[in-house]
Amino acid sequence: MTKKNIIYDRLSRKIASEERGKAQREAERMRQEFTANVSHELKTPLQSISGYAELLKSGMVKEEDVQQFSERIYSEAQRMITLVNDILELSHLDEGMEDMVREDVDLYRVAASAVESLEEEAEAADVSLQLTGENSVINGYGQMLSLIVYNLCENGIKYNNPHGSVKVDINDFEDRTVLTVNDNGIGIPLDQQERVFERFYRVDKSHSKEVGGTGLGLSIVKHAAAIHNGEIHLVSVPKYGTTITITFPKGMKA
Ligand SMILES: Nc1ncnc2c1ncn2[C@@H]1O[C@H](COP(=O)(O)OP(=O)(O)OP(=O)(O)O)[C@@H](O)[C@H]1O
Ligand SMILES: [Mg+2]
Repeated sequence: MTKKNIIYDRLSRKIASEERGKAQREAERMRQEFTANVSHELKTPLQSISGYAELLKSGMVKEEDVQQFSERIYSEAQRMITLVNDILELSHLDEGMEDMVREDVDLYRVAASAVESLEEEAEAADVSLQLTGENSVINGYGQMLSLIVYNLCENGIKYNNPHGSVKVDINDFEDRTVLTVNDNGIGIPLDQQERVFERFYRVDKSHSKEVGGTGLGLSIVKHAAAIHNGEIHLVSVPKYGTTITITFPKGMKA
């Protein structure tokens, strides 16, 4: 099970709990399943590290092969570090979800931190990433709102061209907050615009495969928006770009 998958399940769980209030047992089951998966994934690189190290230790490795063996140990160890980081991030998220409460959240601040955490990715893709707008507070779950902005921006960066741009804008109105994420990237063909919100759906383009992904991002966005009664609007033209707007009603405050 991938990280996004687990985030998705956690979110689904949360949605279920909103409706039925029996998420706790389910979350426990998920955690056990996750632990089993992780143990397995950690075991594989550890076994190869141990195997290569044992060979080196025995002195049976030819001088000219030492370099190659060390490299393998190194790359397997790197893989483990990535895995462990994912686990830490997830358990953090999990903790957050357990006692997630609705509170007043400033979407502009949420967007600012999502944009900041994607700066490196944007730079690597040679895509500019900008945030404009104003503070706007809605009542909701900060972590979910953050996932929404993060996933939309990440897509804007990934499905773009060198020198492209991603613009995030927060607009405050008396009764609603409007989030707009616009990119001038590759766009989505009209006949697939509905489908991209489905779980695991990816537009069948070589570009999609190149940049990698699981096809979960937008389904997470859809669910998280629904929890906040957010309305999603997508406009996209192949070769010109994509604009996704989500309108969150401010609603009644407690
Ligand atoms: N801004 C965009 N521009 C062009 N195509 C997009 C854009 N956003 C999404 N898509 C298309 O929609 C598909 C689904 O997007 P989604 O975010 O759900 O999954 P993903 O990006 O493939 O993987 P993940 O987000 O799980 O890493 C993408 O594979 C891509 O083909
Ligand atoms: Mg995505």
